[in-house]
Amino acid sequence: MTELSTLLAQAGNRRDANRAVSLPLTLSSNYRHESLEEARAFDLAKGYTYSRLATPTRRVLEETLAAMEGGTRAFATSSGMAAIQLALSILKPGDELVALDDLYGGDFRYFDYLKEHAGISVRTWDGQRIADLVAQLTPRTRLVWLETPSNPLMKTVAIAAVAQAVHAAQPAVLLAVDNTFLTPVYQQPLRLGADLVVHSATKYLSGHNDLLGGVLVVADPQLAAAYENYALTTGDTLASFDSWLLLRSLKTLPVRMKQHTAGARALVERLKDLPAVTGVRYPPGVGGMISFTLQSEAQVTRLLDHLQLITFAESLGGVESLITIPYYQTHADIPAEDRKRRGITPCLLRLSVGLEDPNDLFADLRQALAAKGK
Ligand SMILES: Cc1ncc(COP(=O)(O)O)c(C=O)c1O
Repeated sequence: MTELSTLLAQAGNRRDANRAVSLPLTLSSNYRHESLEEARAFDLAKGYTYSRLATPTRRVLEETLAAMEGGTRAFATSSGMAAIQLALSILKPGDELVALDDLYGGDFRYFDYLKEHAGISVRTWDGQRIADLVAQLTPRTRLVWLETPSNPLMKTVAIAAVAQAVHAAQPAVLLAVDNTFLTPVYQQPLRLGADLVVHSATKYLSGHNDLLGGVLVVADPQLAAAYENYALTTGDTLASFDSWLLLRSLKTLPVRMKQHTAGARALVERLKDLPAVTGVRYPPGVGGMISFTLQSEAQVTRLLDHLQLITFAESLGGVESLITIPYYQTHADIPAEDRKRRGITPCLLRLSVGLEDPNDLFADLRQALAAKGK
């Protein structure tokens, strides 16, 4: 394979009939047929008729996304949740799903929907012993769903070991990995034995807090064909403009990830100097996502009310540092007892380290924690 940075830097180049280096944005929603004969012989894999099916911009984006994760087919969707919905569209009533117990909160909301409306049962696994995960598999299990590191507790799971154990136990079970946090720069799940990869492209892939999008990448061509049928029928696709923006952003993904890592590492070292900080989680040692806990809810309030540089806002993965409180934001729909039992407490904060100088980020955290009054 061409190196990832080369593949991404060159994305869209040498694809335009006019030899444009930056892939032109094509907004047309439909495409003219030359003749009835041409229309009847039309091959969707090669040409364009209607933008729900394909657009020149989205196609190049999807080819780039498939190549970057080592898949055969990628689908660019209108949000990360839409990509997750597409990934789970293969489930039938009676099927079972086993999921890590720490995931983006929207996943649990959607699992609840699937339980209620589609007769899918969901079991959870704590991410500790793979034997416990394998013990949960039944002949009805269709999918295992992971995030690693997970959101927001930063649990890590060895994808290759899970893939090996799950496939040895039940070859038909598919392993899906949400790769939003590490991106293919640091982790390529399909190459580690997973069957499906999803991303919230809203996060690192786009990286500038200006786009909502999702990605599903598939290795197996037959599975890809099933997803294609569903995706083109239901039409939850990424618009051409957003596809163009995402393609442009992908070009700088490797260099951004390197810088997010440098910033996060520097900050993790210094967070230990703040007496209010009782714990820091950064298990992968790469990427820009950190979770940390403060001693008290009063300190959390003081911090969030007085930050001047870091922005208190949902989302992650952009050039601007963002901080969130999962207990009240992303995971608010999980029953309070469950949240606390899992470690999602009102004292847990999730920091997406952006591209600012880590000294400035640290100074902001320190001044906010020391602030007096409202
Ligand atoms: C790990 C992860 N997966 C999926 C999603 C959902 O993506 P979106 O918000 O783009 O629908 C999120 C959103 O925060 C996320 O953090």
